[in-house]
Amino acid sequence: MKIIHTIAELREELSAYRHPAVVPTMGNLHAGHLALVRQAKPLGDVTVSTIFVNRLQFAPHEDFDTYPRTLDADCAQLEAAGCDIVFAPKEAEMYPQPQTFKVHPPTELSDILEGHFRPGFFIGVCTVVLKLLSLTQARTALFGKKDYQQLMVIRNMVKQFAMPITIIGGETQRAEDGLALSSRNGYLSPAERAQAVQLSATLRSIVEAVRANPGMDAAALARLETQAMQSLSQTGWRPDYVAVRRQADLQPPQAGDALVVLAAARLGATRLIDNLEI
Ligand code: PAJ
Repeated sequence: MKIIHTIAELREELSAYRHPAVVPTMGNLHAGHLALVRQAKPLGDVTVSTIFVNRLQFAPHEDFDTYPRTLDADCAQLEAAGCDIVFAPKEAEMYPQPQTFKVHPPTELSDILEGHFRPGFFIGVCTVVLKLLSLTQARTALFGKKDYQQLMVIRNMVKQFAMPITIIGGETQRAEDGLALSSRNGYLSPAERAQAVQLSATLRSIVEAVRANPGMDAAALARLETQAMQSLSQTGWRPDYVAVRRQADLQPPQAGDALVVLAAARLGATRLIDNLEI
């Protein structure tokens, strides 16, 4: 496996290939990231993973400075998963000048849910993903359903810019108790980690309620959302949202839509997100 830090070296290395399959990450890798790499393997003639903690997608009060940076351990895991090339640029390589050209996704996709609570987040994500997909000459790129809205926004960006890239969504990898794997789980104290299972359990109970009652109207769905928010609040969480939306564009659902339930909530200082398709 080659570990590359510069754009020039990356271009040189990629010149031998026609179909890179790319998994962009911010590092501190876990089994969720590695599942995407394994899924990527048969989809291209070279498997590329990028590791870059992207300042543009962090608000000033967020955890950019403390985000775990574990390049050596990440590379060992990537090699074991069959990755061929790791592109891990320094900030000065990705952003040699302030990145003043940015991708602004449409507000109806990006100012809802995560975008509502993290203004500018999807501008930062789209800008770096556009740049990474271009640098890696991706023909296939994989993103996790764990970040459901991110996957949806990126799918739309690639489609609207007519980029010659197939976007693949990978299933969410979970710990045994159901907690979705996340680099941010490492911030949880042991007591918080034990309690964190409640987020996925809450989503599962909504999935079961909706499946048991397929004709639920908007008012009934809203009641489920409110109850879930209340039960999280009562046990010490600070939920940002619990929302049943349609899968295609994350807008409020209409009869017959395929649904997904999404949630974001803070436990102590850690903000966790999760979702389940219904
Ligand atoms: P990061 O949080 O490192 O995640 C990298 C990829 O791994 C994303 O596509 C994410 O959805 C996926 N992923 C994370 N946890 C997962 C899990 N438990 N199961 C399956 N897939 C999982 O998402 C980002 O980085 C950044 O926003 C990025 C796209 C790299 C742009 O900076």
